[in-house]
Amino acid sequence: MKGIILAGGAGTRLHPITLAVSKQLLPVGDKPMIYYPLSVLMLAGIREILIISTPHDLPQFRRLLGDGTHLGLAIEYRVQAEPNGLPEAFVIGADHIGDDPVALILGDNIFHGHDFYSILSRNSADIQGCVLFGYPVNDPERYGVGETDAAGNLVSLEEKPDRPRSHTAITGLYFYDNAVVDVAKNLRPSARGELEITDVNRWYLERGRARLVNLGRGFAWLDTGTPESLLQAGQYVVTLEERQGIRIACIEEVALRMGFIDRDQCHRLGAALAKSPYGRYVMAIAREGAER
Ligand code: DAU
Repeated sequence: MKGIILAGGAGTRLHPITLAVSKQLLPVGDKPMIYYPLSVLMLAGIREILIISTPHDLPQFRRLLGDGTHLGLAIEYRVQAEPNGLPEAFVIGADHIGDDPVALILGDNIFHGHDFYSILSRNSADIQGCVLFGYPVNDPERYGVGETDAAGNLVSLEEKPDRPRSHTAITGLYFYDNAVVDVAKNLRPSARGELEITDVNRWYLERGRARLVNLGRGFAWLDTGTPESLLQAGQYVVTLEERQGIRIACIEEVALRMGFIDRDQCHRLGAALAKSPYGRYVMAIAREGAER
């Protein structure tokens, strides 16, 4: 499966913070926001990853992550000239996707929860149709909303409805079979004038090929859309990290645990950052291996 991180947009709700810096490069705790979605794709076992951003911001992502070989990844970059909507990722990324299934994750989505690795590996194998991840929120009108029947089957999907039929938000992580490229190419803009990911998902739903995985309580899907929620996300991360002595979304650690790099390489990556607590953590992880 191929991976795409969509990290464009203008971040207008965070102005003036995002006037000169991409939202997805802002710090969440002690690391750039994009580390969180990147680590999700890595946990799903995905090593070929395309990062899409604005012409202005793309060079910064490249400076941060390079070609990914240091993490055992192959990272490519493409420009999205205008924020025409999330499904454009599949058109821009068509070459990258080739004949494979694809995981799309939004560069500002932060997930954290017990056994996420198992949830991802269980649901990324043999994709037929699409797999969506639902999360209970108290403000569903801000998101794509999924409604299920008594048996847990998905029955409706709506984008930012005035009167949501459930409290289940559709998060910004999506797994699709290869048909998504053609679906996206043939999509028309919604009444809002944008290509909507919910229209893509509805295409699958109407054909009985959309599946919803509920992340549920005990799981964190954090918002980063406003200055307050961005700060809260950082506080959540730092609180857990300090309490447990582990780090969330440490991409070097994930690469080591997934077997993408060996301990020596992990140690080298940490040593290059040794003046920061983050770098020293990476070095410690390399020394300890997977014992934690
Ligand atoms: O976060 C999950 C939600 O993401 C879903 O529940 C919604 O169904 C989905 O439409 C989307 O809603 P948002 O209101 O968060 O979409 P937004 O336009 O803010 O875009 C999400 C991120 O993707 C944002 O960081 C900017 C980036 N983006 C957005 C567009 C429209 C792009 O990189 N390119 C784009 O063309």
